[in-house]
Amino acid sequence: MTRRFHLTTFGCQMNEHDSERMKGMLDSLGYEEAAAAGDAELLLFNTCSIREKADSRFIAHLRQAAAQKRSRPGTVIGVGGCWAQSVKDQVFRDFPFVDVAFGPGQVHKLGEFLTTDQITAQGYFEFEGFTGHLPAKRERDFSAWMQIAVGCNMACSYCIVPSTRGRQVSRPGPELVAEARELVADGVREITLLGQNVNAYGRDLEAGPARTTFAGLLGELDAIDGLARIRYTSPHPQDFKEDVVRAHAELESLAPHLHLPLQSGSSTVLKAMRRTYDRGRFMDRVALIREHCPDIAITTDIIVGFPGETDADFAETLEVCEKVGFDGAFTFVYSPRRETEAATFADRFVDEQVASERIAALVELIQRRARDRAQRFVGRTLDVLVEGTSRTDPSRLRGRTGHNKVVNFEGVASPGQIVPVTITSASSQTLSGELSLLASAAAR
Ligand code: 5AD
Ligand code: SF4
Repeated sequence: MTRRFHLTTFGCQMNEHDSERMKGMLDSLGYEEAAAAGDAELLLFNTCSIREKADSRFIAHLRQAAAQKRSRPGTVIGVGGCWAQSVKDQVFRDFPFVDVAFGPGQVHKLGEFLTTDQITAQGYFEFEGFTGHLPAKRERDFSAWMQIAVGCNMACSYCIVPSTRGRQVSRPGPELVAEARELVADGVREITLLGQNVNAYGRDLEAGPARTTFAGLLGELDAIDGLARIRYTSPHPQDFKEDVVRAHAELESLAPHLHLPLQSGSSTVLKAMRRTYDRGRFMDRVALIREHCPDIAITTDIIVGFPGETDADFAETLEVCEKVGFDGAFTFVYSPRRETEAATFADRFVDEQVASERIAALVELIQRRARDRAQRFVGRTLDVLVEGTSRTDPSRLRGRTGHNKVVNFEGVASPGQIVPVTITSASSQTLSGELSLLASAAAR
């Protein structure tokens, strides 16, 4: 009998990547994906622990899985990812119905668990191996993730990731280039490079032919014929240097979008966050990139209510956002995480009400600036990678510009095609347009 699995993914793009690898592995083991959790004998979760909300959302799902297992004994429950890693010592005690738990560095062990007769619950939490080596079952035929490094050597005081994903380990440059070639031969038009701090890519590799810098890797990938778009996430302002700016200015397939996490506009808060740059340095980076790539879209991540953040600190964050004019931002209220330095600053925690007022003010400013910035696209014809039909209006298509703006547009085109779309209006989040009259001639 075919065994069916259901996998729920939480968290970031790295988790989406890892989930595609889990699916690839399950596929090769003869498992089939069930349409709904209720139809599956194997219930899997790829978890995130970045904020408390991520934990509580997941635990509600896990309780549901436990109920399914009670009514259908024999159901297997597997929990992977960052939450699993961060509770590794108590997961089986607190959640005795879990059969297998594994950290982000142990996805391959899931296969081992499923192919041997395990009687007791198993946990796998070493940091070893890349999920990038496992076969992938891509969500989209034309778009692929490529894990260039795992782990993070930074020590941001709020962040759980260094403890859930370990020290940075990079994949050798030639291996990545070969993988990208294979992906392109398989129809992929767009590759997103993933790493916790992509600018530090390669530093841990031994000197020799396998070692290249991040900018060097971008250059080698750009040289691959047929690869239309290269994206990456995330860089760190500390390590974001001239060579990558030059890559943006020179490499045709490198998308004109930079996601550069600011976190706070106050140098005092940045210091307490151990971000290793200050407000001035961040502004310099932005000025440098804008000087060489004036049209590039810049997005960011910001945390409000970090322990000790004063009204004056927050005002500085607003000021930086006003000055920079981000094309978009993910904004978060600080959430204390287990085993992080900032969680011990309890005497300086910001009042919840104050934090929620701050985030509301920040979101308003971010949206206003993003809306203003998006007006520059109106009247222009942009290359759009078609993803499918619009989520709100099935008679229209949906795609993404190089700037990473979602565009809903009129016209006929297939997913994976890159077509010219003339932009007719722009809001803070999305653009609207129509397929350019040149479309049939220019469609590639
Ligand atoms: N609380 C709130 N936001 C956080 N982030 C990371 N850790 C925390 C935390 N403890 C945010 C940062 C990061 C993004 C992925 O999540 O802004 O860039
Ligand atoms: Fe991704 Fe961080 Fe969540 Fe882990 S904790 S899944 S690295 S966002």
